Amino acid sequence: MLKGKRILLVVAGGIAAFKSQELIRLLRKHEASVRCVLTEAGAKFVTPLSLQALTEDKVYSDMFSLTDESEMGHIQLSRDADLLVVAPATANILGRMAAGLADDLATTVLLATDKPVLAAPAMNVRMWTHAATVANVETLRQRGIHFVGPNDGVMACNEYGPGRMSEPAEIVAAIESLLSAEKPPLEKPPLEKPMAGKRALVTSGPTREAIDPVRYISNHSSGKQGHAIAAALAQLGAEVTLVSGPVNVPDPAGVKVVKIESADQMLDACLAAGKVDVAVCAAAVADWKMAVPAGSKLKKKPGAAPPALELTPNPDILAALSKPGAKRPTLVVGFAAETENVVANAVEKRTRKGCDWIVANDVSPATGTFGGERNTVHLISAQGVQDWPTLSKDRVAMQLAGAIALHLTRPRPAEAAE
Ligand code: PMT
Repeated sequence: MLKGKRILLVVAGGIAAFKSQELIRLLRKHEASVRCVLTEAGAKFVTPLSLQALTEDKVYSDMFSLTDESEMGHIQLSRDADLLVVAPATANILGRMAAGLADDLATTVLLATDKPVLAAPAMNVRMWTHAATVANVETLRQRGIHFVGPNDGVMACNEYGPGRMSEPAEIVAAIESLLSAEKPPLEKPPLEKPMAGKRALVTSGPTREAIDPVRYISNHSSGKQGHAIAAALAQLGAEVTLVSGPVNVPDPAGVKVVKIESADQMLDACLAAGKVDVAVCAAAVADWKMAVPAGSKLKKKPGAAPPALELTPNPDILAALSKPGAKRPTLVVGFAAETENVVANAVEKRTRKGCDWIVANDVSPATGTFGGERNTVHLISAQGVQDWPTLSKDRVAMQLAGAIALHLTRPRPAEAAE
């Protein structure tokens, strides 16, 4: 299908540039011709000589080369192709494309072209989820730029999430899809399963503490965040038990769901789940319950004072799971729902409850965290505090699941040295 097609490949400066060489090899195997534009930063990762050898063509880098301009002007270069591919498309080049800059040969060619452009982003997960990159990608999409990837996975910088450049075969498939009307639309590649063989326990939603048979104490948790975490861990291959209070969100696929009402029932269900590798307590457990719930409906008597509700503390499930011992999960992750001094209070809560990580979130009504679609969290561990940008709850879940997978599957420095 690619026989005789002319691809202009822009190689920008990212660690994924090494994959561009395999991309050229595959394209040539499909009998496409490839010509490269190499940015100054790209040349720090791959040499013009290797690209020239692979493409069997000249490599273009210099905007002001008299020879290049006389042989093949930059406008002609931008048009003398069936498709322009930017791989790796770094945050920098995407930003310059979105801004309409033409400050080097690569961006000039991209601005001058009348041909379709496919970008294969590659960057650190924070850079990919940064509001500036999100806005740039949206702008480029609206202008008709096509994207392939990025994929989720472990990155060169040892973080997990979206940002890894698509594999060369995926980029070739995207190119085929773009150059052929008949090919079906691209499918997302399957996720890696770094949590295969690991067991996870997740708590989610509110608890309900009976006052009497018809009334209860509870809170506004919808279960969206906890359920998304259970789903994300399952997608990464973990065997997941989700212990959930009463919620209206659907059960995540591929997860064992245990439905409970009260904190006592939640604790029992968590202990019954057996030994797990990771426990994530995202549930909003009521801190107090009735010392003795009324056996029948409390009656409102004319002229009588309202009943005094005598409360007693609920068991602390997170603290119980964090207790040292053979049954303790390798990693215990709590959440901290705060309305003020979010990080400081969460740091104190992590120590007091004995968990390894705590995910702090501001649940002040103005944030819309309870019940909403998005969350702004800080991941706190013994190593310090990571401030995450505001993300959808699904994205928070996938990033947290990825961090958990990395923690559980990567050798610790001491083990690595052995
Ligand atoms: O469900 P959503 O609408 O999507 O909202 C998500 C959320 C705001 C509920 C979630 O992100 C969150 O913050 N969950 C924790 C809520 C909470 O109870 O926070 P806390 O600071 O009161 O408790 C700290 C930790 O101790 C939590 O991990 C909690 O699960 C745990 N805990 C608390 C009390 C208790 N008796 N047992 C517990 O295990």
